[in-house]
Amino acid sequence: MARKKIAFIGAGNVGATCAHMCFLSGLGDIFLYDVVDGLPQGKALDMLEAAPVVGVDVRVSGSTNIRDIEGADCCVITAGVPRKPGMSRDDLLKVNAGVMSTVGRAIKELCPNAFVITVTNPLDAMVTQIKRETGFPKNRVVGQAGVLDSARYRTFIAAELGVSVASVSAMVLGGHGDDMVPIRSHTTVGGVPVERLIPPERLDEIEQRTRQGGGEIVNLMKTSAYYAPAAAIWEMVEAYLLDRKKILPCAAYLEGEYGVSGCYAGVPVLLGAGGVEKVIEIELTPAERSAFERSVAHVRELVAAMDKVL
Ligand code: APR
Repeated sequence: MARKKIAFIGAGNVGATCAHMCFLSGLGDIFLYDVVDGLPQGKALDMLEAAPVVGVDVRVSGSTNIRDIEGADCCVITAGVPRKPGMSRDDLLKVNAGVMSTVGRAIKELCPNAFVITVTNPLDAMVTQIKRETGFPKNRVVGQAGVLDSARYRTFIAAELGVSVASVSAMVLGGHGDDMVPIRSHTTVGGVPVERLIPPERLDEIEQRTRQGGGEIVNLMKTSAYYAPAAAIWEMVEAYLLDRKKILPCAAYLEGEYGVSGCYAGVPVLLGAGGVEKVIEIELTPAERSAFERSVAHVRELVAAMDKVL
């Protein structure tokens, strides 16, 4: 079977780190694209030279020519600028929306059958712009946010209880902003509802830390996170290319699910060879539902703000 081609559009911290994970797991041929000359070529060559040691036979290449993404089966978009201290994800709106327009048009022309994972922030607006520019069906345009936000939530719960992260199952839904919604009612540890194990006030603190998890790292590193974001994207790429049928929280285009129409929002989806094969509807508590609705209202405001500056 021919190897799949994974195109990383943006070869900075998140893009290259994810490419490296996909390379290590031999998921497919890796192509890195960036506007900074030398960067994608150099990172690709560096990665390729690790192949004999790690024992993978995939192609790795990089260039500053967007046309080289041609024929990619999966595109991962991290192109744009990341946050600096004091910036919210929304502050990136104008510059990154322009980048999405260019990138979206290129994908439409050069990779008409690709599954597209958008990561650039502000995520919910950027994935909307990619969907518009590509004109791809909703199952093939998805945003990465929920896997990362849920991973942070799971990390903090596991640490609190001193249990394996593998035993913690959790979901963070809604938009990828400070009003994202950790779904406490569906969070379990070894199958036991988390509310039976951690007192509500402490869960409030853990959830607040989760919501500000990205900002916590920006404050430490003076730029945004990349190991955990890259791992989150990797899980989505893998679910698609290997048809894993994983249920993962992703930004998906909603048409009636959760009472939302014509808008992206973080919801649990089934990811497999068909891309977003299904949106899974879970029952939210009234408080979770109103927090979800507030978060979606913010996504709509963000898209309206983007439309003003585009
Ligand atoms: N086309 C291609 N690449 C571009 C373009 C463009 N028009 N504009 C910028 N880039 C490249 C930059 O040269 C840089 O190498 O995108 C890359 C972004 O990488 P970083 O600056 O290292 O940022 P990173 O931490 O990877 O974050 C990328 O993902 O998680 C989000 O908020 C984050 O929006 C940010 C994005």
